[in-house]
Parts: sequence; structure tokens; C-alpha cells
Amino acid sequence: MAKKRIFITGGASGLGKAIAFKFAHAGYQVCIADINDERGEATLAELKKICHSALYFHCDITKMEDLVWAKEQLIVHWSGIDIVVNNAGVGGNAGGIDDISLDDWQWVLDINLLGVVRGCKAFTPLFKLQGFGYFINIASMAGLINAPNMSNYNVAKAGVIALSETLSMELAPYNVGVSVVCPAFFKTNLTETLKAEDPKVIHSVNKLMNKSNLGADDIAQAIYQAFSQQKFWVLPHKTERRLWLLKRYIPFLFHYIMKKHLARLGKKKPANANTSR
Ligand SMILES: NC(=O)c1ccc[n+]([C@@H]2O[C@H](COP(=O)([O-])OP(=O)(O)OC[C@H]3O[C@@H](n4cnc5c(N)ncnc54)[C@H](O)[C@@H]3O)[C@@H](O)[C@H]2O)c1
Repeated sequence: MAKKRIFITGGASGLGKAIAFKFAHAGYQVCIADINDERGEATLAELKKICHSALYFHCDITKMEDLVWAKEQLIVHWSGIDIVVNNAGVGGNAGGIDDISLDDWQWVLDINLLGVVRGCKAFTPLFKLQGFGYFINIASMAGLINAPNMSNYNVAKAGVIALSETLSMELAPYNVGVSVVCPAFFKTNLTETLKAEDPKVIHSVNKLMNKSNLGADDIAQAIYQAFSQQKFWVLPHKTERRLWLLKRYIPFLFHYIMKKHLARLGKKKPANANTSR
């Protein structure tokens, strides 16, 4: 049987890289795409040790033509693709609504939301033509819990969740599946693209990432398992998953707990650091 094929945006670092290795070990042909060519080539060299046919493409998800080009290259190299992971993203801004500029809103929405929209738009026609395909969209707990002082990131991730829910129903008749992944903090290079006025905030976020009981490999494992079982929701962090269930079923209790927690954090730490990235 022909080997299955996976394409991952933002595959040079963090979660994208961990997904690449998880699927390569499972026998997939893996293509990673990124704008960081140095990390992309270094990750490709490592990947090739377990997957000879691995590929790296320079592909900027803010450019529709880059994603369409990547799709065309995958047809040339592998005659198609089985899974597309819309993973590439940036950390956004830590700050209040009055501090985040409209330029920063556009920056975050263009990458974290429209980047996923472009990935889905570029590959859906191929999936329909093939008669199969699967999107794994990387959102965040931030899109479900909506903690304060990260409005542009929260809105972008909530949009990715809404898009994924829409497509899971819209594309089901074409045998195209969708999963949406909503992790809380875990250690990656994401704070390289987190903007904050106060450097202490970046330090606090790094601390929260380091404290996470799950690493990128654990999230990649959860994604692989969810994909194998065709599960829509991938919510790997236990505490935040429970918090989200609380929000859905007992919203007033969720808001009470969040307010108390944030008030406590506000007394101890810079108010911008929260627990749901
Ligand atoms: N790390 C966390 O705590 C966390 C939590 C929830 C969700 N996420 C999400 O996980 C995804 C992966 O992030 P990560 O944590 O691995 O961070 P990371 O910074 O380690 O990796 C992100 C990758 O995306 C690439 N990228 C950025 N802009 C791009 C563009 N325009 N085109 C193509 N590639 C681009 C970067 O070069 C980088 O290699 C993101 O969508 C992020 O929002 C991360």
C-alpha cells in the first residue's frame, strides 16, 4: 500500500516539528513548510534520517500563492496529500484592548486566522478531487476560554475553531475530515513572536510554558491519536479541558472562578500573564 502523506505549516519549530516527527515515525511521508529557512533545513536534515522522502518548502501562510504553489508541488512529488496541518502561528500581543494597535490586530489575524483559512482554501479543491483528505487545524484553549489581555490572539483562535466546526460539516459529504486542536501552554519558541510592553510578561509566559505537564511531543501524540479515531476536538490539557466543560455547562460558576483566579494573579504577577494560551 502507498505511504500516507502529510503537509505541516510552521513545521520547522515547536508543535509543527513534533507533529512531523510523530507522523514520520508512524511511516508517513512528511512535508514541512515554514518561513524560517534555517530552522526548516535543519529540521529537514533530522527528518530525512527517518523519512528519506521528507520535503521542506519555504511557504508563507500570509500568501495564498505560496500555499497554492505548495499544493502543486505536492501533486508533482507525491501525486496528492492525505493530511494538511494548519499549524503555523505567532504569539500575538500581551496587553489591553486600548494598547494593541490595529496594525497588530491585522498582523495576528492575517497569520493565526487567515493563514488557516488560506490553507483550507488552497487544499479543499484537491481533497474534493481525490475524494478524501483531512485538515488538522491548530487553535488554542485561548479560543475557548478567552482570558483577558490577549484579545487579538483569542479572537484569531476562536475564529479557527468556528472555521473548523463549519468545515467539519461542510466537507463531510466529500469524505474530508477535520480536527481542531486546543492546547493550553506548552514549551516551544512561540514567545519569540509574543509582543509585550513589559519584558516581565514574556518571562511569566515562558515560566508558564516551562511549568506545563505536557510538551510538544505529548500534544503531537494526542493529535495522532485523535486523527486515528477521527475525533473533532483535541483538548490535551486536563485542567483547561475541565474548565472549558465548566464554561459550557455551568457558565456562571466558570466566570466566578475565573474572576477570583485572575484577581489573585493580578496581585502576584503582571496582569497580562494568564493560563490559556
Ligand atoms: N506553545 C503554546 O503554548 C501553544 C498553545 C496553544 C496553541 N499554540 C499554537 O501552536 C501553533 C504552533 O506554535 P508553536 O507553539 O509550536 O510556536 P513556534 O514559534 O515554535 O512555531 C511556530 C512556527 O510557525 C512559523 N511561522 C510563523 N509565521 C509564519 C508564516 N507567516 N508562514 C509560515 N510559517 C510561519 C514560525 O517560523 C515557527 O517555525 C501555533 O498556531 C500556536 O498558536 C501554541
